Amino acid sequence: MALDIDDIQTLFERRGAEQYSGEPVTQLQHALQTAHLAELAAADDELVTAALLHDLGHLLNEQGETPSLRGIDDLHQYFALPFLRGLFGERLLHAIQWHVDAKRYLCATRPEHWASLSEDSRRSLVLQGGVFSAEEAQAFIARPHAQDAVQLRLWDDLAKASDRPTPPLSHFLERARRCSL
Ligand SMILES: [Fe+2]
Ligand SMILES: [Fe+2]
Repeated sequence: MALDIDDIQTLFERRGAEQYSGEPVTQLQHALQTAHLAELAAADDELVTAALLHDLGHLLNEQGETPSLRGIDDLHQYFALPFLRGLFGERLLHAIQWHVDAKRYLCATRPEHWASLSEDSRRSLVLQGGVFSAEEAQAFIARPHAQDAVQLRLWDDLAKASDRPTPPLSHFLERARRCSL
């Protein structure tokens, strides 16, 4: 079940050109832009790699075009985990696992965040359980590596530009290799 770095490359090569549901970027562009924003913020190898792979679940679990329009929460934040366990450490997996809850947290704690979300992100937010209450937000941020997930989420939400240049996949796979177990 576990993937290695070459499998991840193959997956992006096979399916990376698919449109990111409801956004003006492909899956690969979204992954590269998120990782690049992490890199520009001087994040370490683990967090840059989490940024690159945070939506890998979309590539592993085919749900068709824009599942949120059909009322489907694809649970992509969990889907990739069994494939990545053994290849990467707990912190990286947590950042991926909680990048959706991090959106629920950011909307609860920064009123301007909801307004900055894309239409598809707002639609999926409802399916994903909606904005956290104050108590839920507090419980979330106390989880291990929740701060990393929040950081990742801020890059994630900015990584939807149709024409932002990034380093190539090979550059980020090299960083992934460096932090693999
Ligand atoms: Fe996601
Ligand atoms: Fe994303």
